[in-house]
Amino acid sequence: MSERACKRILGIETSCDETAAAIIEHYELGKAKILANIVRTQTKEHSEYGGVVPELAARSHIIHIEQIVKRAFRQAELGLQNIDHIGVSAGPGLIGGLLVGLTFAKGLSAANKKPFIAINHLEAHILSARINERVDFPYLVLLVSGGHSQFVLVKNIGSYQILGTTIDDALGEAFDKVGKMLGLSMPGGPMVEKMALKGDAKRFNFPRPLLREKNLNFSFSGLKTAVRLAAEKIAPLKRQDIYDICASFSLAISDIVSQRADRAIVKFNEIFPSVKCQLVVAGGVAANKQIAKSLAKIADFRGAKLIVPPMELCTDNGAMVAFAAGERAIFGISNNLDFAAKARWPLDSEDMVINYGI
Ligand code: KG4
Ligand code: ZN
Repeated sequence: MSERACKRILGIETSCDETAAAIIEHYELGKAKILANIVRTQTKEHSEYGGVVPELAARSHIIHIEQIVKRAFRQAELGLQNIDHIGVSAGPGLIGGLLVGLTFAKGLSAANKKPFIAINHLEAHILSARINERVDFPYLVLLVSGGHSQFVLVKNIGSYQILGTTIDDALGEAFDKVGKMLGLSMPGGPMVEKMALKGDAKRFNFPRPLLREKNLNFSFSGLKTAVRLAAEKIAPLKRQDIYDICASFSLAISDIVSQRADRAIVKFNEIFPSVKCQLVVAGGVAANKQIAKSLAKIADFRGAKLIVPPMELCTDNGAMVAFAAGERAIFGISNNLDFAAKARWPLDSEDMVINYGI
């Protein structure tokens, strides 16, 4: 181990359609500095198919991973010899892509005798708010990405309780599918948001599924079907029709998300009556300004603090993976090189738990 007061960590991310690598300095729990954070997105490669093609994603990761990692080292002005730990997303995600990052990280680890840490990609997302800002445990996370929509109670590192999740599509996926339906380019989320700005949100009264349910789950497939039916009814669509559908859909989404967030904050306050609720929004959909605005309103109403990390930390990146590895390394955690990639890896699974007695 080095004599430095910090650990330098390489983080690698290949779980979906971003090939990413970052190098951070990790000083202590919740304290780190990003030295390099390189992300190569594959959006263009998948756009003609209207969604991420797993096999293409894996091949593209293979082609680019080495260059991305090298660029991270160049930007940080460091070499492998300066690194203390190697962290990599080992799941959940597309298995082919995960295998690329995992195999690459294991190779570097074995050849350079650097401890290897397998990171749960979702853990990386929910801890990422702590890189730039002080966020104390416990806190509440709304994780909304292309693959996930869930409320997570973050009690400590490795101690996560899922308060609610989607019973069908993820929120980003719903945006992407609506975008595709309307012939917009990929990824659908940012395009739908852009189109919505010019539309009349009151023209279509789309359903708000599950709003009367007491739990914290989401469901977006009924809403998606309603959008499709409305679009089919008025086809062929003119520009203004597309704007209006996007605006009405976005309003339905922000109503749903803010109502669920309201309930989640109430739940947090019941569990931790003497703790001011911090609501962190993580995942790519956190970029949506309308959603962020409606969440800010709810947080304000409930006396909670809303934290939206900078966009480059919300979407898939290597810095969040390196940071999660740094936090875990503090507890002496590393993994064997036979650690297998996991397509599914719930945050509340047993192998996430840290034995704080170590
Ligand atoms: O976290 P992320 O980069 O990748 C994973 O899925 O893990 O999230 C990507 C998702 C996509 O579905 C994309 O359409 C959505 O985030 N997204 C947005 C916006 N920007 C990205 N959805 C709505 N509004 C946006 N501005
Ligand atoms: Zn992600």
